[in-house]
Amino acid sequence: MIRAYPSGDTLTSVATLHNEPAIPRQPSPRRFVMCRPDHFDVFYSINPWMDPTDPVDRARALDQWETLRSTFERYGHQVDLVPGEPGLPDMVFAANSGLIVGDRALSARFTHPERAAEGPAYHRWFAERGLTELVGAQEVNEGEGDFLLVGERILAATGFRSSVAAHREVERFFDLPVVSLELVDPRFYHLDTAMMALDDENIAYFPPAFSAASRTALAELYPNAIVATDADAVVLGLNGVCDGLNVFVSDRAVDLIETLRGHGYNPVGLDLSELLKAGGGVKCCTLEIHDDPRIAENAA
Ligand code: ARG
Repeated sequence: MIRAYPSGDTLTSVATLHNEPAIPRQPSPRRFVMCRPDHFDVFYSINPWMDPTDPVDRARALDQWETLRSTFERYGHQVDLVPGEPGLPDMVFAANSGLIVGDRALSARFTHPERAAEGPAYHRWFAERGLTELVGAQEVNEGEGDFLLVGERILAATGFRSSVAAHREVERFFDLPVVSLELVDPRFYHLDTAMMALDDENIAYFPPAFSAASRTALAELYPNAIVATDADAVVLGLNGVCDGLNVFVSDRAVDLIETLRGHGYNPVGLDLSELLKAGGGVKCCTLEIHDDPRIAENAA
């Protein structure tokens, strides 16, 4: 089977591997919100990746981020830009700004005072965009950092940032079931540092980032999940975005890239090493405006 990808990539021939799906994987166009790292820096530390004594090369961060944005666009995805604000060095991590599904949007409430002002900044932008049912979270909620929509279910993390009360708030607001998971390793402080959604039914994740009870729950819910190696996890390889076929992922996650390919996905490797200095990667920079999965299903 031969698949053609957008110009710039080599034409890839995918052999029929045992994990290859019977029906080839189909990408679907996505809508993303991103924030240019004009004010990106590491001058405080709220996760173990952040070392304020290790200088950030902002020009390099901008270049890497621009490559991510243009790659999304080259693959047919729409990117809307939120202006960054001075004094908010982590605002580039748009995934933390909220959760948007269909006509409902819940803007974030951050754990740390250093990021608190990002909640209202993003909220204002969402309001200007005319998102109809827009509400600010009452509970500590770091948006898509900790809430992952997989089909008609939301996987949610607690342990370092978002609270269990936030999980219940999200469940009520979106009227979708929320499965609470507990993170236990401070390097994997957000759900999206240890897990990515691949399609409506499947995920890739790093089990050691989760409590024993959460690992059991995940093994039952996703018996066919792709399990990442330590080497993938420690480069934040799971912090990726999948459009159904193409997986935008750190180019350092070499095991994961190989495994994804074996499962019929097209991994697109990206270098976000400057943003990694703040504990961020591809997914952290990307908030998705999700269609309501219930409506998409009815329309199909
Ligand atoms: N320095 C940021 C923080 O600790 C990084 C956030 C990364 N975002 C994400 N979705 N994981 O909050």
